[in-house]
Amino acid sequence: MIEKVHELISKEEIAKKVKEVAAQINKDYKDKDVVFVGVLKGVFMFMSDLLKEIDSTRATTDFIGLSSYKGGTKSTGKVEITADLKDSIEGKHVVVLEDIVDTGLTLSFLLKDFEKRKPASVAICTLLEKPSNIEKYVKIDYKCFVIPDKFVLGYGLDYDERYRNLPYIGVMEFIEE
Ligand code: IMP
Ligand code: MG
Repeated sequence: MIEKVHELISKEEIAKKVKEVAAQINKDYKDKDVVFVGVLKGVFMFMSDLLKEIDSTRATTDFIGLSSYKGGTKSTGKVEITADLKDSIEGKHVVVLEDIVDTGLTLSFLLKDFEKRKPASVAICTLLEKPSNIEKYVKIDYKCFVIPDKFVLGYGLDYDERYRNLPYIGVMEFIEE
């Protein structure tokens, strides 16, 4: 099999949209203490670009490692915490940052888990949403792009841990040799 990547969303489109979403978050969280929780690893580029546009001097960041994919392009449906938050979110306004909402299983697991930690509020912000695969509905508060039912990679997203370094979002095409 030969792997071929086609550009789906350019880095210019991403930059423009990320600025728009950040502006909305700045407005909504104007006078609030907010903690941005990035879901590793796929979110790292999005989180970095988004946070550069957040103007609060009180915003903090944390990370959580969740794994639902055991490689390849299909969800196993099982979610586990592979690395937990560093700090408590009790009483805090949390904005969860995700790379992509696909089946919704990862985020619904996370929301249930966070409920027990008693935050003041939890909002979801995702770079991508793939609505065609949804199994568990989750309310998405901020999103950059809705994409078709294709396996995407780049800008932090991986295919078997590779391609995260691409500056744009691409679609993988597999060609038989
Ligand atoms: P969900 O639990 O099915 O919503 O999947 C969420 C996680 O699966 C994301 O955080 C990604 O890590 C991964 N994922 C889902 N779809 C894709 C894709 O098209 N490309 C790369 N990773 C994906
Ligand atoms: Mg992944």
